[in-house]
Formats: sequence, C-alpha cells, structure tokens
Amino acid sequence: MLLTRLHLGRYSCVGKQLALMEARNVIARIVREFDVQFAPDQNPKAFEDGLMDTFTMTLAPLNLVFTPRKGPIPAGGRLPN
Ligand code: HEM
Repeated sequence: MLLTRLHLGRYSCVGKQLALMEARNVIARIVREFDVQFAPDQNPKAFEDGLMDTFTMTLAPLNLVFTPRKGPIPAGGRLPN
C-alpha cells in the first residue's frame, strides 16, 4: 500500500527492491515481537479514508498499541536490537 508509488511512471524507483526488502524485514520483526492492535481511539476507516496520493503517499494518523508477545521464544530466538 505505502509502496505502491515506487513502481509507477517512466522512471520507476531503482531502489524499489531494496526498499521492499527493508520494509518486509521491519514488519516481520515487529509482528514477531509484538501483538499489534488499534488504539482505543483509532478508527480504522478514518485511516484508510485519510490516505492521500501526493506523488508519494500522505498518511492519516494511525495510533497503534504494541504489546510485547508472551509465550515461547520464536524459532530462531529473539532478534537482536
Ligand atoms: C520507501 C522507500 C522509497 C520510496 C517510497 C521511493 C519512491 C520513489 C519514487 C516515487 C520515485 C519516482 C518514480 C517515478 O518518477 O515514477 C523514485 C525514484 C527513484 N528512487 Fe526511490 N524510493 C524509495 C527508496 C529508494 C532507495 C532505497 C533508493 C536507492 C538505493 C532509491 C533510488 C531511486 C532513484 C535513483 C530514483 C530515480 C529513478 C529514475 O529517475 O530513473 N529509492 N523513488
């Protein structure tokens, strides 16, 4: 979603694969370590409706709550900081 603007147009982004790899890495690390929920005051639809195409993408506020995951350490162990 955020990165859809990378691949449009005549001169598409040469860093696309690097940026996608980094984004996947960061997202994977977050969901591995945390349960992620909307904050009580967050309306998910307001976030979606607030996205604006401004060459890259302008985001609406998105308040989330990150709770460290309980339970067994994931296969491969906790990731280094
Ligand atoms: C989230 C990260 C990134 C976003 C959102 C992004 C976005 C964009 C966008 C919108 C364009 C213009 C595409 C067009 O004109 O149609 C672009 C071009 C470009 N990007 Fe990225 N980019 C990202 C990461 C990177 C990285 C990591 C590199 C280099 C390692 C990079 C290098 C370039 C270059 C050199 C161009 C110009 C390509 C050309 O004019 O031929 N970008 N990028």
